[in-house]
Amino acid sequence: MAGWLGGAYLWVKAFHIIFVIFWMAGLFLLPRYLVHHQESLGTPEAAAWEKREALLRKMILGPSIGIVWLLGLALAANVGLFDGGAGLGWLHAKLLIVFLLSGYQGWAVGYSRKLAAGQGNIPARRLRMLGEVPALAVILVVILAVVKPF
Ligand code: HEM
Repeated sequence: MAGWLGGAYLWVKAFHIIFVIFWMAGLFLLPRYLVHHQESLGTPEAAAWEKREALLRKMILGPSIGIVWLLGLALAANVGLFDGGAGLGWLHAKLLIVFLLSGYQGWAVGYSRKLAAGQGNIPARRLRMLGEVPALAVILVVILAVVKPF
C-alpha cells in the first residue's frame, strides 16, 4: 500500500495538520476549563463550565480526534507502515505518544463528567500541571514527524 495516496498525498497531509491544530486547540482548552470548573464547584458558575466542556467535546475534540486518526492512518499506510517498511522508528514512537495522548483525552473527559457530578478530587496544583501534558506531547510528536530522527 506504500504510496497509495498518489496525487492526494499532500492534500491528505494538509488536512491531517489542519485537524491536528483543531484537536490540539481543544486539548489545550479542556484542562484549563477543568481548573475553572473545579474552582467553581458549589457556585452557580459550575453549570456554565459544564456546558462549555460538553460543547468543546462535541464540536471540537470528538470530530477532530477521529479525523486526525483517520488521515494519520491513511498517511501511515502511504509511507508503508502496514507493509513492514524500514526506517519508520519515528512513526512507531509517534503512534505511541499519540495513543497516550488519546488516552489523556479520555481521562480529561472522564474528569469533566466527575466534576459535573460535583466530585473533583485532584489538588488544584496537580490539575494545572496535568494541563501541560498536551504541550509536551506536541513538542515530541512534531519533532518525530518533521525531523524523523530514527
Ligand atoms: C492520530 C494518529 C496519527 C497518525 C497515525 C499520524 C501519522 C502521520 C504520518 C504517517 C505522516 C506522514 C509523514 C510523511 O509522509 O512524511 C504524518 C505527518 C504529520 N503529522 Fe501526524 N499522525 C498522527 C497524529 C498527529 C499529531 C497528534 C500531530 C501533532 C501533534 C501530528 C503532526 C504531524 C505533522 C506536523 C506532520 C507533517 C510532517 C512532515 O511532512 O514534515 N500528527 N502523520
